[in-house]
Amino acid sequence: METQVIKIESLDEKDKIHQAATALGQGKLVVIPTETVYGLGAHGLREDSVKGIFEAKGRPQDNPLILHVANQDQVLDLVQAIPPAAKDCMDMFWPGPLTLIFKRSKIVPDLVTAGLETVAIRMPSHAIAHAILEEAAIPVAAPSANTSGRPSPTRVSHVLEDLDGKVDMIVDGGFTDVGIESTILDVTVDPPTILRPGGVTKEDLEDLLGTVAEDTSHYDAESGTVPKSPGMKYRHYAPQADTTVFAGNIENVAKEINRRIQENKGEKVAVLCTTETQALYQGAHLLLDMGSRSHLEEVAKNLFNSLRACDEAGVDRIYVEGFDFEGLGVGIMNRLLKASGGKVVFGL
Ligand code: TXA
Ligand code: MG
Repeated sequence: METQVIKIESLDEKDKIHQAATALGQGKLVVIPTETVYGLGAHGLREDSVKGIFEAKGRPQDNPLILHVANQDQVLDLVQAIPPAAKDCMDMFWPGPLTLIFKRSKIVPDLVTAGLETVAIRMPSHAIAHAILEEAAIPVAAPSANTSGRPSPTRVSHVLEDLDGKVDMIVDGGFTDVGIESTILDVTVDPPTILRPGGVTKEDLEDLLGTVAEDTSHYDAESGTVPKSPGMKYRHYAPQADTTVFAGNIENVAKEINRRIQENKGEKVAVLCTTETQALYQGAHLLLDMGSRSHLEEVAKNLFNSLRACDEAGVDRIYVEGFDFEGLGVGIMNRLLKASGGKVVFGL
């Protein structure tokens, strides 16, 4: 199929917003920008459209999708109830990078929830996404707009790499802001539990809700080990090159990475570092500054783009600096653990 790319720079471009909204209403596959990453959208209440998402991404059908809405009223039809904790979160963090898990209603197709009794819903804050969703007036199912397993797309060139010819339309809304996917919070359990760390941090949620639990099957910060949970057998967000993460004292990290660069002299090695540490490295084929350690939003924003840039440069090996499991660092480390297939050297 021919993929049409339309660039929307302002909310004044009403014709283009209308075009994207209409296509979604007609059941087409439309990639939209969000504040986190680009999403591969389709009519969330039509099985046939949702099926197209799984095909275009090559996504396993046991992995459920998030429904995107323009306002809180749209949630009512999709869920059995809105628990008080959920309502508090919606008032505080929506629109924004927080996905909530509810008990689903009957109108949500099985394919969206992968047969689960729950449904994931979020309201993006990206102005263009919001305008399209509002005009379409339907819940839009949208996973990240990458081929399954690859780093999520934060700019249209990434989307084109993976999905050109596989979707009807791509809306170009520039670089995405947050850079990693939304936090997923299960509000059907007590205490509410974070299933995926992201743009809204545990600390943010605790300020509002009190106790918040964390599903740590993705890492174990205390013991510094990566447990063999089923999810860890998959590499997500993964570049082609062999990727290792190094965590601990930052000078020791740099020393160990430099030592390994020497050890692998015949290979093209990329180092993903930070503004503060950039000057510490020698001999890397590609040295990428992801942003400042005191502004982790910068690191989150550049993370997936940096991983994709390594593939483009055709490096054999990627060494990445790790971060503390704190604030946005938790979400960043979660993506790095998956990108490396759990290959992390802790405690340096
Ligand atoms: O920021 C985001 O959330 C982006 C943008 C496009 O909105 N979307 C995104 O979707 O990251 P995706 O499909 O790449 O990730 C959705 C995650 C998956 O890990 C899926 O397993 C989980 O949400 N999920 C969806 N429905 C769920 C449910 N009912 N219970 C538990 N997890 C669910
Ligand atoms: Mg994804």
